[in-house]
Formats: sequence, structure tokens, C-alpha cells
Amino acid sequence: MPTKKYVIANWKMNLSLSQSVSLAKKFKDKFAVFNQGEIIICPSTLALTEAVKVLKGSKIKLGAQNVFWEENGPYMGETSASMLAEAGCDYVILGHSERRRYLLENYEMIHKKVKAVLKTEKLTPIVCIGENFEERKTNRRDFVLVEQLQQALSGIDVFGGQQVIIAYEPTWAIGTGTAIEPAEAEYAHKIIKLALNDMFGMQAVSKNFKIIYGASIGAGNVKGFAKLENLDGLLVGGASLKADEFYKIANEITK
Ligand code: PGA
Repeated sequence: MPTKKYVIANWKMNLSLSQSVSLAKKFKDKFAVFNQGEIIICPSTLALTEAVKVLKGSKIKLGAQNVFWEENGPYMGETSASMLAEAGCDYVILGHSERRRYLLENYEMIHKKVKAVLKTEKLTPIVCIGENFEERKTNRRDFVLVEQLQQALSGIDVFGGQQVIIAYEPTWAIGTGTAIEPAEAEYAHKIIKLALNDMFGMQAVSKNFKIIYGASIGAGNVKGFAKLENLDGLLVGGASLKADEFYKIANEITK
């Protein structure tokens, strides 16, 4: 039986509060009778509590774009995992390349975040990994992916039905409008799966881990990704800011 696909709208810092509310309403309408897969929207932290109200009565889930690893205390400007869970989030994106680039987030921090998120037993982490252009050019992609996974997840305990979503995002392709070839994504996903199997064992990986792709997915190129064997979903940035286009992507990938 095919497993359910995850289709995640990563709105980043693109929308004001009122724009987020209005787009969340459009998503709710668009997906009112959509029963395939798991649809998740990730607005800014500021818009989370309003988005929860909008999404009431809909199957769309809510995700945050970041979290801090401590529970509470003197950590200026940060938000803890339990605060996100209390606000109504089910998911949280961790270690996105834009945070690694602009805020110098590293995999030591991401590791602490994964731990804190799983500890809540309420939130599912979406852990971003992916090589940059230089690493790709010098044929280090496979090594980089394995190293990032090990740094983010070594020694992590995943209990019961807890899920961990790995988002493979070749950082050099994000926001360019040109995704990588589906076959290349499939290859990278196999590498990721093998590394996870090594770390957690095949049984736990098939039960607790999902691998999704993100970088320049749009309605025009999603078809090529729909048939991939090792693809459990998509993380969509730019194209998720248009409800119609995102709907087409979700529809195609979850068919
Ligand atoms: P993009 O962003 O779809 O605009 O390339 C994807 C992401 O950064 O998650």
C-alpha cells in the first residue's frame, strides 16, 4: 500500500499577518474536500496562532519554520517546542539552508532542536539537509548528505509511531525556478535511506522516517517527481504562495 505523501507549504518570511490569514483561508477552501496525503502550511511564527483559528475544521496541518532547543528561560527572541505545540503546530522545519546561511545555524544546533522537538511527543521534525553548489561541483554531495544526517541525528531516539521527515534540498537549486532532475533526487534519496538504515536499522527507517524533496518545485515540473519510488513528499517554497499552484502540486504528487 502506498504511504501517504507530505506536501508542505514553506511560506518563509514572505507574508504579513493579514496576508498569511488570507492565504490560509484560500488553502482551507481549496483543500476542503481533499483527502489524499498530508497538507501542511508553515507560516511565520507571528501568524501561527491566527492560522490555527483559520484552519479549525480543516484537515490542513500547521508547521513552524524554526524552534529553539531549550524549554524556557533567558533566550531572547526564541520559541520552544512546547510553545509551538501549545500554539497548535504539528510540525516544525529544522535547519533550513536559509537559516544555516544567514543565521549560521549548524548541525550541532539542529541536533539539539531535533531532540527537543521529539521530546514533546507532539511535534514532527522536518530536518533539512542538502549540498551547496561548491560541494556538488567537487563531487562531495553523497559525503555531505551522510555527514549532515549523522550530525543531526546520531544518538537520537525515535519512539513508537514518531515520525522524522528528512527534506533533501540541494541548496543551490532553491528559489531558482529550476529543480534538479527527478532521477537525481531519487539517487540522493537512496543515499539518505541507506545512511538512515545504517544509523537506525531498516525496520525503524521504514516505520519512522520519511524522505521528501524541496527546491524549485512548481506545477510545471512536479509530474516528473510523482512517480519516484523513494519520495514521500515535497517541501515547496515560492510556489506555495499561490493556493492554485500549490493545489495542483499537491494533487499531482498524491495521486
Ligand atoms: P523553493 O523553496 O520552492 O522556492 O525553491 C524551497 C525551500 O526553500 O524549502
